[in-house]
Amino acid sequence: MKTQREHWGSYFGLIMAAAGSAIGLGTLWKFPYVTGENGGGLFVIIYIVCTLFIGIPLFMGELIIGRKAQRAAVGSFAELSSPGSNWRAVGWLGVLSSFLILSYYSVVSGWGLNYVFLSLVQFYQNRTPAEIASVFDQLYVSGDISLFWHLIFMLVTIGVVYQGVRKGIEYWSRILTVALLVLLIGLFAYSTSLDGFSQGLRFIFYPDFAKFSPSSALEALGLAFFTMSLGQGIIITYGSYMKHSDDIPRTAFIIGSMVIVISLLAAMTIFPMIFSFGFQPQEGFGLVFKTLPVLFAQMPGSLLVSSTFFILLVFTALTSAVALLEVVAANFIDLFDWSRSKAVWISGAAAFLLGIPSALSGSQGIFSAWQELYGKNFFLTIDALVSTWLLPLCGLFTALFVGWRMDSVKRIEEYLSGTRLSSLYSIWLFFIRWIAPAAILLIILQKSGIIDIDKF
Ligand code: TRP
Repeated sequence: MKTQREHWGSYFGLIMAAAGSAIGLGTLWKFPYVTGENGGGLFVIIYIVCTLFIGIPLFMGELIIGRKAQRAAVGSFAELSSPGSNWRAVGWLGVLSSFLILSYYSVVSGWGLNYVFLSLVQFYQNRTPAEIASVFDQLYVSGDISLFWHLIFMLVTIGVVYQGVRKGIEYWSRILTVALLVLLIGLFAYSTSLDGFSQGLRFIFYPDFAKFSPSSALEALGLAFFTMSLGQGIIITYGSYMKHSDDIPRTAFIIGSMVIVISLLAAMTIFPMIFSFGFQPQEGFGLVFKTLPVLFAQMPGSLLVSSTFFILLVFTALTSAVALLEVVAANFIDLFDWSRSKAVWISGAAAFLLGIPSALSGSQGIFSAWQELYGKNFFLTIDALVSTWLLPLCGLFTALFVGWRMDSVKRIEEYLSGTRLSSLYSIWLFFIRWIAPAAILLIILQKSGIIDIDKF
């Protein structure tokens, strides 16, 4: 398949596509609840440090691999290493992660769809904050309803990817990403007026060392990888669509800062509410669905605000889900010569099937002994498997590949092409060779109990 590779129409289009895939449930749903569970403060700082010093250099590394090889993930590793080498396995590991993420991503997005519907019928009317929050608990334990919305969301995702991504979704994701940002800023402004605002800010930013456990660091790293879509070959694929005149370091800095700003904005909207209305910060993954409707219910024009917010949430989730399915399907098309429709339907159906136990986690409709056996329900087990292990491991190998294995002439050529930040090359190389691998390795060793930082 040596057709002329399509490239991004404009630099703005590239930024928006990368941002569209990056900004999704990770920023709006996952960042706040994981921060809550890990005690805020120091966790947030580590997350930001991980994004800046590991995430951004690695993001550049993935773009460099992709633009040099002009292939998708698996093919890129193969192209840039010797024939028959095992590096392509790193690409496959990434594809596997995307597939696993998609399975439960669709379940959460389905909950989002359910909240669009709930907002339209104004479910929060005449209900106390506690009652509004308990609606999510009911949803969570009603397996069939979760399953229904999971199915609908996956069908929409399949429908979009089946038709091709560029025209429809890319056009819309530009508009919707901007709309989301505007709405989020508006909500944030509103939450500054709440009593719990300063307490919320303190929770997010005050580093309380007493509450910190070093093992949270791997979670912060996993979250940084998840939100920047790293360690799955997706950014490699995006890099392959870049032009040689595009600035790789600058792109990585822009995306990294956007992800940080939007995550913080979401957290700074949500935590003041938690403290104002007496919820618990460690509420878990239902957090966004439980707290925001309480805020909406108090606002003027609640019908409009609430429905708009959840519609935008579903759309950002859709732009991410579409990318996830595309990564998986594209590799089957490349490697087994499947037709597009066959690849999309089979990958989508498989992700739906794997998502069923996640959708039924709350009702324990299937694998009811899972939690007892493995300590976490199915949904959280898959998420932990991906975020705590697969993404960091894949990131580690990617850093090693770019730093040590890739031909140094090709590496420097690709870095310099189109950039005005050429003076940062040696600093970047130092990070990708030493800092990123060492930090990831350290955190993995700590998490697996081989070393214990607390004891040093
Ligand atoms: N980054 C996305 C989010 O924050 C989720 C995600 C992870 C993703 N990996 C991806 C999206 C790959 C698209 C492609 O929600």
